[in-house]
Amino acid sequence: MEIRLFSAMDYLDKFVDASSQLVNAYPVAASLILGLGVIGIARFCYRTLSVFLQIFVLPGHSLKRYGAKKGAWALVTGASDGIGKEFAFQLAKAGFNVFLVARNKETLDAAAAEIASKYSVSTKTASIDFAKADDAAYESLSSNFQSLNVGVLVNNVGKSHAMPAYLTDTPKDEIADIVSINVNATLKVTYSVLPGMIQRRRGLILNIGSFAGSVPSPMLATYSGTKAFLSTFSSALGEEVAQHGITVEHVNTYFVVSKLSKIRKASLMIPHPAPYVRSVLAKIGLPCGAAYSRRPNTSTPYWSHAILDYAMTAIDIPTFFISYTHGLHKSIRRRALKKMERESKAQ
Ligand SMILES: NC(=O)c1ccc[n+]([C@@H]2O[C@H](COP(=O)([O-])OP(=O)(O)OC[C@H]3O[C@@H](n4cnc5c(N)ncnc54)[C@H](OP(=O)(O)O)[C@@H]3O)[C@@H](O)[C@H]2O)c1
Repeated sequence: MEIRLFSAMDYLDKFVDASSQLVNAYPVAASLILGLGVIGIARFCYRTLSVFLQIFVLPGHSLKRYGAKKGAWALVTGASDGIGKEFAFQLAKAGFNVFLVARNKETLDAAAAEIASKYSVSTKTASIDFAKADDAAYESLSSNFQSLNVGVLVNNVGKSHAMPAYLTDTPKDEIADIVSINVNATLKVTYSVLPGMIQRRRGLILNIGSFAGSVPSPMLATYSGTKAFLSTFSSALGEEVAQHGITVEHVNTYFVVSKLSKIRKASLMIPHPAPYVRSVLAKIGLPCGAAYSRRPNTSTPYWSHAILDYAMTAIDIPTFFISYTHGLHKSIRRRALKKMERESKAQ
């Protein structure tokens, strides 16, 4: 042990000697390298500190700015379950009337009744299947909220693949449904709600995205592409409407316990919808983990998701993340197929 310590000290001495010889020989170059190193370290420390302050200390915009407790409505798509249902409850608690949208009228009405019994706000529901909706269905949906003062829109509805698969093995209707739900519904509902927000010079639009949008995800290529759309769309629209006092935020989400994720147990990295949505609503306007990701109008607010996003931005080796995700999805598909085989044998 002592011998090792001595030899490590020896190497250190040699390194210091060689460094001082270099500094003496090339003082300008050495100072430049040292200066750049110090700037790099200071920049990293500043960024890390600012990200941690945003995640753990700084408050986001107050929801009052968007009409909480002033009679404004919050419109939430995919509001009968999972993250969307939690948005409906927490926005009602914050003082918004809530308009819940999904396919199943019964579950929507049950959620609306529970909200109305818990909080003194008004509720409305509308049933629509975004996978099949035509122009008439969208017109009928928007006729429900044209006269309402919508302060918050949560474009939450989303669909992923039944299991990871290469594009050519993915059913055509699954691809079409994912695009219709994740892209068209967001565009069309936003298109209906935005003119009223512009007129009132007030509004918050939350587009619920996924890490699959920031890390291209092989074997979930369609879902991944639709979620990447949300990021670029939010950056562009956010700049368009900032002049009207409207905030657009793409909410970057890692896993959350829900039917869509097929995860039932919460963990450090996988919260239940309640703490997840609390973090989103507490950090409006703060990019948190997405602060240095070159994705304006994106926020990664949940603390463990935020640290992961920031670490991935700092490491910055996209090809590594893509190939890791590919391997992961190959193994998920293998296990899903085995499970299906077992189940079909058991029948
Ligand atoms: N959970 C995660 O780990 C995770 C991770 C990243 C991103 N996200 C995103 O978070 C959002 C919410 O996901 P979630 O996990 O909360 O999903 P979820 O629990 O499966 O809930 C989906 C909601 O959307 C509604 N819905 C589904 N298909 C619909 C359709 N065709 N037309 C209208 N409504 C429909 C469902 O109600 P009906 O069945 O009654 O229609 C339900 O209210 C999605 O955009 C998802 O991509 C989730």
